[in-house]
Amino acid sequence: MTGRKTLRTDSLVVAAGRPPRETGAPVNPPVVLSSTYIGTGEPQPDDLLYARYDTESWRPLEEALGALEGSSRRALVYASGMGAVTAAMALVPNGGTLVIPRHSYNVALIAARAHAEQRGLTLVEVDIADTTQTTTALEQADSPTLWLETPTNPMLEIADIPALVAATRSRGGLVLADNTFATPLAQQPLALGADVVVHSVTKYLAGHSDVVMGAAVTDDPELWARLKSHRDVHGAIPGPWEAWLALRGLRTLALRVQRSQRSALDLAQRLEAHPAALEVRHPGLPSHPQHERAAAQMSGFGSIITLRPHGGALAATAIARTVQLWVPGTSLGGVESLIERRRRLPSEPTTVPEDLLRLSVGIEDVEDLAEDLLAALGASQG
Ligand SMILES: Cc1ncc(COP(=O)(O)O)c(C=O)c1O
Repeated sequence: MTGRKTLRTDSLVVAAGRPPRETGAPVNPPVVLSSTYIGTGEPQPDDLLYARYDTESWRPLEEALGALEGSSRRALVYASGMGAVTAAMALVPNGGTLVIPRHSYNVALIAARAHAEQRGLTLVEVDIADTTQTTTALEQADSPTLWLETPTNPMLEIADIPALVAATRSRGGLVLADNTFATPLAQQPLALGADVVVHSVTKYLAGHSDVVMGAAVTDDPELWARLKSHRDVHGAIPGPWEAWLALRGLRTLALRVQRSQRSALDLAQRLEAHPAALEVRHPGLPSHPQHERAAAQMSGFGSIITLRPHGGALAATAIARTVQLWVPGTSLGGVESLIERRRRLPSEPTTVPEDLLRLSVGIEDVEDLAEDLLAALGASQG
């Protein structure tokens, strides 16, 4: 299917990465279990040679993810989101400056600090919603690299992507964007000027909490080649079954995201009106500090809510233990709704409040989700 220029994203998730239309051809790509390929002469650029470099099991998914992010080049898939994150961070030159949200995904922050220590980077952790603070950090460096995560995990801060891209460009730097929370359906960082997009495919793209995988997308041939050669030598590659499962999950991305986004906004409004809620955050709520910015650059507000109940960390833990339908556990973006008090993780930044619950809204009936959650919230106050 070559309709990437004309199809809308909701159609692309279904149509991209299909085998050629030939009589008797399968509708879905096959899983090919082979670590090597027959060959004798010098390999040509697109030849399959050895399965750490490229396989027909990745290509349909890579084509679909590249097209979804608006790139003319296929994505590169990795064994995990962190495989993609660390490959993208390797693009920061030794001794360079990396400006990163202080509330990025906590393991991305750990990776950034390790890169800084080992490769002499200047790491500047900023409040990414504060455009002046972030722009000032960028202006103080030569060729800085900006790491964008917007909304941030779990604080849901929204960066002004066009303004920060312009500030990075004016200093000759690169913009790398983690688009996991928004998905390409709600936000298109490449179209807003980012150079590379990374994903934890584990989350919404695969969507069923049964696969761990990552992806990087760029339209720039040189950056693509650098990422590819990093993957070739570091070897963080997914298996063929995982690639197949992720593409299978991707087929329903639009339906899942539409449903979970609608439910998330509904639940956020109900929580905000509840007397036991101290603070509720969701980019779709007018009370969110960057609601207007989110509305300007996103076509959906995502499916994550944060809730701080009255009663502190004890009340938050009680809610996660009391819910029956919501699943207590880490991660997000699956069909099932997940709930987690983030500070239970020792690696979470200490600026994330102790009582903050991160809610990943799934696709269950919103009335069941509301009844379960509001009952647990009420019971936590006893
Ligand atoms: C925003 C974000 N980026 C990257 C990752 C890492 O992805 P993975 O767990 O697939 O390695 C995560 C995981 O939670 C995440 O939330």
